[in-house]
Amino acid sequence: MCGIIGYAGQSGDTLDVLLGGLEGLEYRGYDSAGVALSNGDLSVCKREGELYHLQEAVDGGLDGPVGIGHTRWSTHGPPSNQNAHPHTDCSDDVAVVHNGIIENYDDLKDDLADRGHEFDSDTDTEVVPHLIEERLAEGATFEEAFRSAVARLEGSYALAAVSEDSEAILATRRDSPLVVGVGEDAAYLASDVPAFLDYTDRVVYLDDGEFARLESGSWTVSDAEGKLLEKSVSRVEWDAEETAKSGYDHYMLKEIHEQPRALRKCLRGRVDELTGSVEVDALEGLNPESVQFVACGTSYHAALFGAQALREAGVPAQAFLASEYAVAPPPIPDDALVVGITQSGETADTLSALREAQRRDARTLAMTNVVGSTAARECDGALFIRAGPEIGVAATKTFSSQVVACNLLAAALGDRGDAREVVEALRDLPGQVQELLDSSRAEQVAERFLDAKGYFFVGRDYNHPVSLEAALKMKEITYKHAEGFAAGELKHGPLALVTGKTPVFAVVTGDDETATKTVGNVKEVEARDAPVVAVTDGASEVERYADAVLEIPETHPRVAPVLANVQLQLVAYHTANKLGRSIDKPRNLAKSVTVE
Ligand code: F6R
Repeated sequence: MCGIIGYAGQSGDTLDVLLGGLEGLEYRGYDSAGVALSNGDLSVCKREGELYHLQEAVDGGLDGPVGIGHTRWSTHGPPSNQNAHPHTDCSDDVAVVHNGIIENYDDLKDDLADRGHEFDSDTDTEVVPHLIEERLAEGATFEEAFRSAVARLEGSYALAAVSEDSEAILATRRDSPLVVGVGEDAAYLASDVPAFLDYTDRVVYLDDGEFARLESGSWTVSDAEGKLLEKSVSRVEWDAEETAKSGYDHYMLKEIHEQPRALRKCLRGRVDELTGSVEVDALEGLNPESVQFVACGTSYHAALFGAQALREAGVPAQAFLASEYAVAPPPIPDDALVVGITQSGETADTLSALREAQRRDARTLAMTNVVGSTAARECDGALFIRAGPEIGVAATKTFSSQVVACNLLAAALGDRGDAREVVEALRDLPGQVQELLDSSRAEQVAERFLDAKGYFFVGRDYNHPVSLEAALKMKEITYKHAEGFAAGELKHGPLALVTGKTPVFAVVTGDDETATKTVGNVKEVEARDAPVVAVTDGASEVERYADAVLEIPETHPRVAPVLANVQLQLVAYHTANKLGRSIDKPRNLAKSVTVE
């Protein structure tokens, strides 16, 4: 939620690095953007709207060896030039960018206003440059002033500041991500690695309460008292190519097509195809008797799947919305493991739920895509889904990888001895996804129902999380009403909404009793004139009642949801594309939600 970039290097390069970095961070927020560069004089430019407005406004005009930039997702005050970051002090000598929420900003602002400070914006952030200004006026150095301002803040923040009297960027974090990039003769700072991956893959992850000082080609990290810390430099595995669009119109489409590769990577080294055994290193030493999943949004849908898979494998398991778990946690059994499923590893609600579990002495595991993320670092173990960078705001490949990782958890922890069949199905899955991507008729289905007033998605058992996920994808990128239901629930209320203008997508796999019951629910909607789209492996009778069919190959019931979901990702994508929506950056959303 909001992206921060910083560069300390050579004049001439700064603006390009900042604007390029902001492009890589736009997925975190895109309602306004700004930069501040210092060369003994501070220049600031900021604009409401997507990044190109800022790019046009600066037009190469700013320079200096150090600079900071920001792309915003509004929390305090609507998108506007005034509310865009960086924010400055009264004399425009200090500029600050911020990600997070400063909870005591009202009090700080009142105090500062009483002492004569004037504010231009509605933001919480603006108090920070003014606090720095006050200490500078008392004779403090820039670093002393920055530390003293930070000491007065309550809430969550990643902060970076520049001043016209200094060639350093000062930065710190609490509950919001910040990473330093180590270049040959330059140092970088960002909310997330892809922002500077074109320049360096060597990174230093800041921990809460640490301070970084970046100067042209050098960096240091210190603790709250100013003591220098020895931080290790890690190498990230992602490369810049992986974060580019590679000829696709949208990141989302590229990422949908990356699923075969992502799934292979998730499985590599974790399954023994000969014996059917599954090895999940991240579980070493944890040996849980039960599992509680906490997650948000798409990751929560993967958690619903995971809990069902574990229960079926004989392990008591439940899935909780992280935002609810954090405020109203359930009892945690002694031998339980609390698993946070979070693509980014930075979602504030999920981190909060995991911390609540830790406070109650529970052991925790992060199932995440981002090595070095806060969740990965704070939990007792980390199971990486290895999907590679996901830039499109709508999660696609990471959901599939999460479902596969949940299957691995179920096979590793379960005691039913049927892992072999799941492993065989998982082995075939990447190839099946590829075939489906090559042959899908999702675009025609999207075209046919483009005028629909709303969309319903139904499924039972493992296909219930798929129906929820498909509806979320549809609403977030098409802006049309969409709901997912457990198929059996339709008749308990939602059926009243079903008309000839509301297509119902029914996910029906296998031909067991569950499938038969779902077919019964499909007949109920068909009788109300609703067009039915069956997403099916053809094993049941559902096609007889369907107006359109999206086929998937037959496979294990714990693996079929991935295939059904890929078809529905494509329906959502093509619907949004035909409606001309902003697919990679849907309105009001951001990829990494670091506020509660
Ligand atoms: C929807 C989507 C969100 C995220 C949610 C959690 O397409 O991407 O619902 O799933 O914000 O994010 P992570 O997984 O990063 O914790």
